[in-house]
Amino acid sequence: MQPQVWIEEIGRHDGETALVRGWVYHLRTMKKLAFVVLRDGTGLLQVVAVKGEIDDELFERVCDLTQESCVEITGTVREDRRAPGGYEMQLQSLKVIGESHDYPITPKEHGTTFLMDHRHLWLRSRKQHALMKLRHTVVAAIRDFLDREGFTLVDAPIFTPSACEGTSTLFETDYFGDKAYLTQSGQLYMEAAAAAFGKAYCFGPTFRAEKSKTRRHLTEFWMVEPEVAFADLDDIMELEERFVSSIVERVLEERRDLLENVLERDISRLEAVQAPFPRLSYDEAVKKLNDGGFAFEWGGDFGAADETFLSEEYDRPLFVHRYPAEVKAFYMERDPQDARLSLSVDLLAPEGYGEIIGGGQRSADLDYLLEQIERHQLPQEAFQWYLDLRRYGTFPHGGFGLGLERMVTYLAGIAHLREAIPFPRQIHRLAP
Ligand code: 4AD
Ligand code: MG
Repeated sequence: MQPQVWIEEIGRHDGETALVRGWVYHLRTMKKLAFVVLRDGTGLLQVVAVKGEIDDELFERVCDLTQESCVEITGTVREDRRAPGGYEMQLQSLKVIGESHDYPITPKEHGTTFLMDHRHLWLRSRKQHALMKLRHTVVAAIRDFLDREGFTLVDAPIFTPSACEGTSTLFETDYFGDKAYLTQSGQLYMEAAAAAFGKAYCFGPTFRAEKSKTRRHLTEFWMVEPEVAFADLDDIMELEERFVSSIVERVLEERRDLLENVLERDISRLEAVQAPFPRLSYDEAVKKLNDGGFAFEWGGDFGAADETFLSEEYDRPLFVHRYPAEVKAFYMERDPQDARLSLSVDLLAPEGYGEIIGGGQRSADLDYLLEQIERHQLPQEAFQWYLDLRRYGTFPHGGFGLGLERMVTYLAGIAHLREAIPFPRQIHRLAP
């Protein structure tokens, strides 16, 4: 194939003849002029065909192009400040690579169910494209931050013999006649990794059989889970705030244009996200809810409305720490000051986006964990390897899990998690 120029690099060919390949994003025809907006995934390029300058048959073929047909175009590049991307191409030749007829997604309004059913095509649209670029940058920012901080990537398995985050959201599968569960979190494995590497993290898909349909829940989502040996609750909060603010900073650096111009995000809200973040204890949070007129009872977990109210007065994410042990997972360390509490912490995003991180300090005590496993009605046998970490050189440690789609949804300022992942999985959605 002839060498092709990606649209994002077209500026290097100003004044030259270049060959581009892509899909017809938009077509506008007049008597003597045709404008094709070409999309190649890296950018948009306006191509102009002028009747009289090219032969009539070619001009006709340009006018007959259809939305999302794949084409190869050769033409001369010239700077044009008004054109999208700042360059325009004057068409010289056209080859249709793949025709497209009756493309289902048209410029008119479509319902979300229809668009989600056509997710494989919807990803080509401007806003969806911007969201995936944003997600890409968030992932890069996460990996680079952890790399700089000396974390080792240790991948956790997806088939697991036991629950990590409670048994109500487990996906059960048959594993050669035995039961296996799709992982809810790689944390338990990261605790093993922390003893091997000091600072470790995993980053992969995790699964929750969420039976309700909400804006904040997917059945398959991506989570990054750092785990640190000898870290206490304060260390974890300090790590989280540096982590989150560095992701925000990177996104503002690299994706400001998409955020501002495609996603129409209020950038000033993201610019405010700087460490340190405010901190409230669970006790203080409950008091605040009650003072605010919420009939919230001490001991329960916060719902979406509670989280929104709590974070409302802050311009940056809010830590809520030391939840009652009852509402948290079995592995949480007890608060030495108050046995009813756990050394846990959630990070709540502002603007009503709610929890984006869950984490805390893990119990280092074998007997306490045995008791907790029983209390949570978990099968002790499946946790023997985990308990070995307390038998052979137990150590204080902590970590957290950041939900990638929650983070992207918040950064993009969109309403629903389903647009923050390429192919969402929800209770009623397994396709495409
Ligand atoms: O709070 P969670 O359940 O914590 C854990 O799984 C810990 N084991 C993590 C750790 O300490 N290593 O989940 C962590 C984060 C939540 O704060 C949220 O961002 C995201 O994972 N999350 C979900 N995202 C999308 N859909 C769901 N159903 C989610 N459940 C949790
Ligand atoms: Mg949580």
